[in-house]
Amino acid sequence: MGFVKGLRCRECGREYKTEPKYVCEFCFGPLEVSYDYDGIKKSLTKEKIASRPPDMFRYRELLPIDGDITIGLPVGYTPLVRAKNLGKAWGMDKLYLKNDAVNHPTLSFKDRVVATAVMKAKEFGFDTIGCASTGNLANSVSALSAHAGLKAIVLVPSDLESGKIIGTQIYNPTLIKVFGSYDDVNRLCTEIAGRHKIAFVNITLRPWYGDGSKTYGYEIVEQLGWRTPDQIVVPIAGSSLITKIYKAFGEFEKLGFIDKITTSVFGAQATGCSPVTTAVKEGKKNFKPQKPHTIAKSIAIGNPADGYYGIKVINESGGWGEDVSDDEVVKGMKILAEHEGIFTETAGGVVISVAKKLLDQGRLKKDKLTVLCITGNGFKTQEALGGTMGELPVIHPRLDEFEKVYK
Ligand SMILES: Cc1ncc(COP(=O)(O)O)c(C=O)c1O
Ligand SMILES: [Zn+2]
Repeated sequence: MGFVKGLRCRECGREYKTEPKYVCEFCFGPLEVSYDYDGIKKSLTKEKIASRPPDMFRYRELLPIDGDITIGLPVGYTPLVRAKNLGKAWGMDKLYLKNDAVNHPTLSFKDRVVATAVMKAKEFGFDTIGCASTGNLANSVSALSAHAGLKAIVLVPSDLESGKIIGTQIYNPTLIKVFGSYDDVNRLCTEIAGRHKIAFVNITLRPWYGDGSKTYGYEIVEQLGWRTPDQIVVPIAGSSLITKIYKAFGEFEKLGFIDKITTSVFGAQATGCSPVTTAVKEGKKNFKPQKPHTIAKSIAIGNPADGYYGIKVINESGGWGEDVSDDEVVKGMKILAEHEGIFTETAGGVVISVAKKLLDQGRLKKDKLTVLCITGNGFKTQEALGGTMGELPVIHPRLDEFEKVYK
């Protein structure tokens, strides 16, 4: 038995039953899932969570699922790593990385939202799921639909990295490349959803899907020993993850699992697509859409669906937003790999370089417990590093040739 009450409009508060709906019919506000927190409080304890297998379903009472957990894969519960080397280089004693570069099965945090959406799609009786994707979502929808025995239709911008394309095609979904940016793809998918019975996970099922990424936040709290970080740096595309991490912290506070939250939330974007961080820096409550142009393709969303709420979380939590150039994105990827042995994708490079920039500005405090959100894997975005890795020596298998190149 689940604890879902239904859907609720974030703007006017109007309530809806449990259904595949994402926008309020009265005020066009976005809908979100509402839960029976009193019921959850009676049923769920920290000890109960800790006794369960290490995957995202250990928080099942807080997921928007009514039936049984039908995903038989261990999604989530990725490592929270103490970044000792990077911390030393930056003068930070309490620096951590939440590493979804190794999330199962497709190596990004998107498996959390898709696992949730797939189960909800089944509950709603859909046989086909779909998505508009910047790459990671495409991988995840294809893999998890294969696992769940559903059909998948995936639409992506035509210029995605080959790792993202092959990492989608291998699962044999219907994959379509679309000329244009993610925002063009998303608009097309919204039109398709109006005509075909396809559960687009990030459109039709958006409220249900989004709550899957709350588990990224729950895990951080549990892995820190049931406390929230003082500071967290989150990559932003549609702004769903950043709002859901904060929602997760708020729910744990409401359930009495942790003390009052004092976390400052910092948003990270690439300068070539930075509607949210630009709005924060300009002191605006809402963003102006942009046309993306950056190597950080996974987070290149110029018209973010939850951008308004992302800005709100940053401002209300006392955080800030910052963005970095494509050169800095590459530098961030290399710094993380060289210091911590983690190969992250471009979004992770954005987070690392934004964190450094915020430290230099004095906005991130060196002595505070800080979590940097690593959300995807570098093997998928190798093109971003093209031409920056240096020439390699090639030798015949002879000692004298080795001695010449070994310094
Ligand atoms: C690796 C990675 N990190 C972060 C994000 C940002 O997520 P959101 O759209 O929830 O802001 C994405 C979105 O596609 C992503 O692929
Ligand atoms: Zn409304």
